Amino acid sequence: MSMTISTYQSSHSQATPPDSILLDVIRTRRSIRRYTRQPVPREVLEALLTAASWSPSAHNRQPWRFAAITSAAVQETLARQMGDRLRADLRVDSVPPEAIEQDAARSYSRITGAAALLVACLSLVDMDRYPDARRAQAEYLMAAQSTAMAVQNLLLAAHAYGLGGCWMCAPLFCPDVVQETLALPADWQPQALITLGYPAESKTKSREPLETRVLWR
Ligand SMILES: Cc1cc2nc3c(=O)[nH]c(=O)nc-3n(C[C@H](O)[C@H](O)[C@H](O)COP(=O)(O)O)c2cc1C
Repeated sequence: MSMTISTYQSSHSQATPPDSILLDVIRTRRSIRRYTRQPVPREVLEALLTAASWSPSAHNRQPWRFAAITSAAVQETLARQMGDRLRADLRVDSVPPEAIEQDAARSYSRITGAAALLVACLSLVDMDRYPDARRAQAEYLMAAQSTAMAVQNLLLAAHAYGLGGCWMCAPLFCPDVVQETLALPADWQPQALITLGYPAESKTKSREPLETRVLWR
């Protein structure tokens, strides 16, 4: 039986568990870091980006921006450039050279081993502007929160399509490198690298009990 949104909402307005597969998708999504070589069709990537675009955002300004990378050559260049910055940062931390190379190699294989990459960025161009740092910071945070929500939609949609994905925080540590390598518009601030592909591993994870994270008042 097909349901309209309003019949869906009214049939779930009581405290009965919904029969939607959505909760299953939410519960069974895992961060997947190893992928097969099978390419991800462009239409699927577009469906994921569309799912991302349906997430809530502050003032509905949709501050997220995505750079979609499907070219192995671009992937390789990005991995190399980010690896160089990682090495430089770790050298400043006086990390032993073998450990630096190990870290850099892991980062390189994570980035080049994905079937596709999406760089999630935020842009402040459509956000409100404030003269004071306190409110400017709140507005910036709202843009970052909105972008993270878009990525969560995207990761859930990827899981629903049988894909695995993982959020990599590395671009936050080298936004200038990502900007320059991908020739991104000046207002795009790289936030995360999302690796995607058909899973070559399965993962289990647990969560802390609600009572350690929730207060009822
Ligand atoms: C903001 C953020 C940053 C993350 N950065 C990384 C990362 O740099 N590398 C990585 O392997 N996983 C990263 N993750 C994935 C987390 O490790 C993962 O979500 C967590 O361990 C829970 O596992 P699950 O996603 O399978 O439930 C990040 C996740 C978030 C939300």
